[in-house]
Amino acid sequence: MMKQKNVFVTRRIPEEGIGILQRSCQVEVSDYDGVLPREILLHKVAGRDGILPLLTDTIDSEIMDAAGNSLKIIANYAVGYNNIDVYAATQRGIMVTNTPGVLTETTADLAWALLMCCSRRINESERYLRTGKFRGWEPLLFLGTDVHGATLGLVGFGRIAKAMARRASGFDMRVRYYDMNRVGQEEEEKYHVEYQSLGALLRESDFVSLHIPLTKETHHFIGEKELKQMKKEAYLINTARGPIVDEKVLVRALQEGWIRGAGLDVFEQEPAVEADLLRMENVVVVPHIGSASYATRTKMATMAAENLIKALEGTIPPNLVNPEVLKR
Ligand code: GLV
Ligand code: GLV
Repeated sequence: MMKQKNVFVTRRIPEEGIGILQRSCQVEVSDYDGVLPREILLHKVAGRDGILPLLTDTIDSEIMDAAGNSLKIIANYAVGYNNIDVYAATQRGIMVTNTPGVLTETTADLAWALLMCCSRRINESERYLRTGKFRGWEPLLFLGTDVHGATLGLVGFGRIAKAMARRASGFDMRVRYYDMNRVGQEEEEKYHVEYQSLGALLRESDFVSLHIPLTKETHHFIGEKELKQMKKEAYLINTARGPIVDEKVLVRALQEGWIRGAGLDVFEQEPAVEADLLRMENVVVVPHIGSASYATRTKMATMAAENLIKALEGTIPPNLVNPEVLKR
């Protein structure tokens, strides 16, 4: 009999995914309650055929070398894979996969919730009510910004941004997008969106929502220049990755009124958050929960597990992010 493949999962994920792995592999799931410390991760990956890490695990060349020649697949439990050194993996003949598509709508729901919470000051007014400050209806109590009829600027126009455009049409919004690649006219018509340069989009949008991956090129994509281009009444929504925004500059922008507010699911140095952000009433912050629905986290688990199994069976996993690896 062929030796069973040996797989390491860096943290407990929904059981459905583990079950798929267990059908054909020997599986160890870390029971460590937190992000695995580096030394433990280095030790645990040794001799594995496959690893299923989370976006909170940094998988670099050192980890790959600690795993050794047996390692064929790193099946990330996330759509974003900036935590993995894909170049180093390709060089070592290791496949890398992600979980695209299944979390698109769930993440757009959360981005939409942040947009609504910012504009109508939900969290701020709830704090007010909960702390006993409500004295009855007032003509000027917690006036906010209308979402309907406003202009939404989407930075990036991938799956999640498109899901945002669909939501926006139900609110009669004008939707603009900026992306490195302009899509065809047919798609622009389908989503009722208009292409703009980044500068024009920032200057004209009431809500700017970020939907680009984190890469070397998009680090601090939104910095002082960009925040200063935005309208004073505008809101910034980030459900993508924290380091896309220069968080220290964002704090200044919010304190000095360059923009009206921000809704943030992701932060530059997670789990740390700029202390000033936590003190500001015009900021809505949630702890990286974009894909956090029961259904979606389960789908992500089965998808990551199926990617891993396919790779170990010697077939091409459906969500391979480094197809160059096949040419080696
Ligand atoms: C979540 O942030 C993901 O990339 O899946
Ligand atoms: C990621 O960009 C997705 O939309 O799944």
